[in-house]
Amino acid sequence: MLYLIGLGLGNEKDITINGLEAVKECDVVYLENYTSRLQCDVSKLEKLYGKKIILAERCDIEGEESKGKNPILENAKAKIKDEKTGKERTKKVALLVIGDPMGATTHTDMLLRCKRLEIEFKVIHNVSILNAVGIVGLELYKYGKTTSIPFPEPNFQPETAYDVYKLNKRNDMHTLCLLDLRPSEERFMTVNDGIKIILDIGKKRVKDKIEKKALFREDTFCIGCARIGSDNFIKAGKAKDLLDVDFGKPPHCLIIPGKLHFVEEDAMKLWE
Ligand SMILES: C[S@@+](CC[C@H](N)C(=O)[O-])C[C@H]1O[C@@H](n2cnc3c(N)ncnc32)[C@H](O)[C@@H]1O
Repeated sequence: MLYLIGLGLGNEKDITINGLEAVKECDVVYLENYTSRLQCDVSKLEKLYGKKIILAERCDIEGEESKGKNPILENAKAKIKDEKTGKERTKKVALLVIGDPMGATTHTDMLLRCKRLEIEFKVIHNVSILNAVGIVGLELYKYGKTTSIPFPEPNFQPETAYDVYKLNKRNDMHTLCLLDLRPSEERFMTVNDGIKIILDIGKKRVKDKIEKKALFREDTFCIGCARIGSDNFIKAGKAKDLLDVDFGKPPHCLIIPGKLHFVEEDAMKLWE
């Protein structure tokens, strides 16, 4: 049996009561540790939930179970003798996910594999960055496609985020840019890095004569967010002004608004 349990965006206390009850029932508890960053130490979770927590890396979750490389699914399929009843039963495994478990495609794949392996599963939802960005005051249903800005590598400088922004802007929609992170290396993209990357793509497009005037420029209005759902640091302004703002600890994300309704325009004053 596999429980995918959302932890929300803050600390150990943001788990739901349903989530907590399920964790307490489980024989093995994993924490997915590569798609976001907790706002508390794992020891705090262990203390409140009364369970030892195993950190799961990408390979433990995406690994091929048929090759013996997916300890989570292998555990969720295993049979054990119940300590109380003495009867044989399936092991109960929890995979804790920061935010909402369905806020990352990885976890949909996990459910598909459970179905294929005939492992019973249950998802216990929680708040996700995808809806908590509502705090900024831009209407959630006016966001277009969400995009991610990856860390640029010498042979990998994708421009997808710029294209998604362009598409959303054409449709008067807001763009949420998630920023790359590698928690195991303590590497987290900042709002400043994200803005710089999109500014550079704009400059390159002008240089290559793809755009006469860059769509994303130093005077483009945008909103930088950090630690939404815990201590919420939000700053709105021109891209060039946000470049110098210290957003503090991760995780960060960047919003580039589309057409603003006057109520949304008013809301932006909260973050100037
Ligand atoms: C793959 S998403 C995490 C999805 C997560 N399961 C959820 O439902 O929120 C990770 C990215 O979202 C953004 N993010 C996540 N939590 C955040 C927060 N509390 N504040 C700001 N940005 C956040 C960051 O850009 C981070 O790199």
